[in-house]
Amino acid sequence: MSDSKRGGPDRNVPFRNPGWAGNTGEYELSEAEVRGEEYVGIRSKDGGHPSISTTMPYILDEKSPDAPLFEGEYRERLDKIRSRYPDLRGALIPVLNLAQEIRGHLTSETMKEVAAELELSDAYVRGVATFYTMYNKAPVGRFLIQVCTNISCNLCGGDEVLAAFLKHAGVEMGETTDDGLFTITEVECLAACGFPTAVQINSRYYENVQPEDVPALLDRLREEGA
Ligand code: FES
Repeated sequence: MSDSKRGGPDRNVPFRNPGWAGNTGEYELSEAEVRGEEYVGIRSKDGGHPSISTTMPYILDEKSPDAPLFEGEYRERLDKIRSRYPDLRGALIPVLNLAQEIRGHLTSETMKEVAAELELSDAYVRGVATFYTMYNKAPVGRFLIQVCTNISCNLCGGDEVLAAFLKHAGVEMGETTDDGLFTITEVECLAACGFPTAVQINSRYYENVQPEDVPALLDRLREEGA
């Protein structure tokens, strides 16, 4: 992409920082083009090299709430994650990430399975899993859309962006659309305050999102999810 197309040196082009996700503005880059193929759904389920086995999961196209948790390649990955921590308790966050990657959300039963694997109490695991909003405690759609309405984004129209998502998807806050594609929630600061409004869709950030961007963004996701 040329500098002028990015809105850089060519001062006649309105600057809309595409952010690291690269998908805001004109929506002209694919996720693979921005993040690299190795980060877009093709990483091996066994986690690859142990040193990267704890990194945040990619979001699977198909969530399987009833899938076995730690079998086959996922068992290999669990073992790699555990090998990175002298104290099993330290592995809790990446193992919860892995469980959510497989099942899409964390039920009480899933939390108990994680507790058993890490030799922790059920209550401890539950306390951690329910503390962080990044863990879904109920099923979510193919695309979990989290709109930041904290201070920076709020001052720049975060509420309007959230309203646009709800309106164009046709759901209430926290609901999933009938086609199972979208769940829309409001979240606190996503640490992208310099590029309001920030929206996280699955593991991907969209920055400088404005209400008028929303219909095209949803259409694009529908194509991806079809
Ligand atoms: S206030 Fe929205 S990302 Fe920080």
